[in-house]
Amino acid sequence: MKMRIVVLALASLLAGATSGVAEDYPARPITMVVPFSAGGPTDVVARILAEGMRASLGQTVIIENVTGAAGSIGVGRVARAAPDGYTVSIGHWSTHVINGAIYNLSYDLLTDLAPVSLLVANPQLIVANNKVPATDLKSLVEWIKANPDKVSAGTAGPGSASHIGGIYFQNFSHTNFLFVPYRGTGPAMQDLIAGQIQIMLDQSSNSLPQVRNKQIKAFAVTSKARLAVAPDIPTVDEVGMPGFYISVWHGLWVPKDTPKPIVEKLAAAARAALADPATRKRLTDLGQEILPLDQQNPAALGAFQKAEIEKWWPLIKAAHIKLD
Ligand code: MLT
Repeated sequence: MKMRIVVLALASLLAGATSGVAEDYPARPITMVVPFSAGGPTDVVARILAEGMRASLGQTVIIENVTGAAGSIGVGRVARAAPDGYTVSIGHWSTHVINGAIYNLSYDLLTDLAPVSLLVANPQLIVANNKVPATDLKSLVEWIKANPDKVSAGTAGPGSASHIGGIYFQNFSHTNFLFVPYRGTGPAMQDLIAGQIQIMLDQSSNSLPQVRNKQIKAFAVTSKARLAVAPDIPTVDEVGMPGFYISVWHGLWVPKDTPKPIVEKLAAAARAALADPATRKRLTDLGQEILPLDQQNPAALGAFQKAEIEKWWPLIKAAHIKLD
């Protein structure tokens, strides 16, 4: 009996301590680790979201770009951080799913990180620099086939979304070209505009501003429907690559063992940001789809990430993607 009372007292003490921590949280700025370069698609989502989350958290969310190895270095940094809610990982389909199938990671994507919320998803655009003579997807494929040694595609590193998209494109179109790895598609975009590289399979949020400014050209969007904010860009189905769909979804994670009330506070702040009309507009103008409210929580991201790992790992492992 005595023992039971001690256990109960300890349990209530611990619960009190945890809820106390959560009540005071956040007492200082939070760092959101972006695992790619500044100015790229993940960085842009992070900065828009961080600004929106500040209102409900009452603290600044600082963006830190920790780049390299297709985002696996930045994610590792969060996996090893203190589980106190002050270090958050933003990432996507490739950083939190694909990387586990091709890199020898020093952390486990499912057990060393705790999910917070699904955020947004955007398709890729098949884009080229303005010097590329092709005028549509069919002539782009013909031009690549005629110039295999002259065509290179920028990527955010081996295994990144832009790289997987490029490999998928090669398989689908029976083309061959070189991949040039960058620390994110932000810098790759600068080289595309400058004509250093010829093509990219790039998230719409990174390419659309340049397409609108006529600095690059877009041949197709990798989704079933055209983007409402870019209705002139045809879908892959319309221009001869039926079913060539790629959607890059983003989410938010914290180190494992982060107290549940803190995870819930972060998820609530992300939900509040994604519900804000100004934040929504900034994201949707870039072709991002805000994922439904019932997916903006830890359980939905955890289940989805697990399902994505089960779906993609066998395919990626079978593809034997080279890391050099
Ligand atoms: C980035 O922010 O550079 C991208 O998310 C990279 C990618 O295509 O995976």
